[in-house]
Amino acid sequence: MQGIKILSVAGIHPSKKVTNDDMSRIVETDDEWIRTRTGIQSRYFCEDGESCVSMAIEASSKALERSGISKEDIGCVICATISGDYATPSVACLVQQALGLPEDIPVLDVNAACSGFIYALCVGRGLLEGGGKKYGLVIGMEQLSRLLDMTDRTTCVLFGDGGGAAVIEKDEEALFRQVLGARGGKEISCLGAGNDESFVQMDGKAVFRFAVWAMPKCIDDLLAINDGNSITLSDIDHVVCHQANSRIIDHVVKKSKEDPSKFYKNLDHFGNTSAGSIPLALSELYESGQLKKGNKLILVGFGAGLTWGGVMISFEGGKA
Ligand code: UT7
Repeated sequence: MQGIKILSVAGIHPSKKVTNDDMSRIVETDDEWIRTRTGIQSRYFCEDGESCVSMAIEASSKALERSGISKEDIGCVICATISGDYATPSVACLVQQALGLPEDIPVLDVNAACSGFIYALCVGRGLLEGGGKKYGLVIGMEQLSRLLDMTDRTTCVLFGDGGGAAVIEKDEEALFRQVLGARGGKEISCLGAGNDESFVQMDGKAVFRFAVWAMPKCIDDLLAINDGNSITLSDIDHVVCHQANSRIIDHVVKKSKEDPSKFYKNLDHFGNTSAGSIPLALSELYESGQLKKGNKLILVGFGAGLTWGGVMISFEGGKA
């Protein structure tokens, strides 16, 4: 299988910070409940002029700049999201227009909820393999605040807005493994439009049980893939899990028996940004100097659908 690597990444969040105390003025909740059950202390919500599309454009522009490649060389644009500004045009199409990206390439959104960025990387790999160009733009971005029922304390305290974008490069030699799966159904988590399900609805406990099954399974399955390279978890520099709940990530760490510092967490200040959480975490790792050229990564997520997915991929750093 043709491999890909991540050439650059850039994250973004809206300007308005909303603390747990702020949430307690909206619904009957408190900082202690949210912090102890989830690890979340604050999140960001979009204000006037900010949206999924505007954030996707800004993050993509920065990721392209960091990549050091020319925009003419982009061979696909994919945005993982469930909260785009419009049902159509896609977020990806509006990013293409705003940044003046090439026209003779596939441009689309992917919906796999919180597993979306993982799915989008895999779709990007496939599209680059089938096309003539070497680079792709893969975005994970959400504006979930507009899809939350702000009277439902069991969901509205959990989510936030933001995400990131990555430039990927196809490379024959690159390490790349993928695991994707789904167990379709609307019973556990659902978000519809124009009916009773127009807000995020979720059976939190069932999602929790699913997550602590899916995430360790993805990691084990990735490590077990036989591609001729013998790789154990100790060869991996960072495991970046979907940032939904600190207790879920702690469970994954415990099962892995690895050093907890390998498992990045930033949901304390972003909440759950769904498809945005993994690129946002990668961008923070990069900006803090922890994500270095040549690092091997495992990225793993779970979400509504239900969906799950993981990739093993390396970080290349820009061409500049
Ligand atoms: O990207 C995927 C998205 N979803 C997830 O990752 C969710 C995964 N699930 C979870 O993170 C956890 O199940 C939750 C954080 C959602 C809930 O934690 P829990 O420990 O499973 O709590 P619970 O649902 O059992 O609720 C316990 C109590 C209930 O009260 P009673 O029935 O025991 O009297 C809730 O009504 O806590 C109450 N409660 C709240 N209290 C204060 C629920 N939400 C809140 C709240 N503030 N925001």
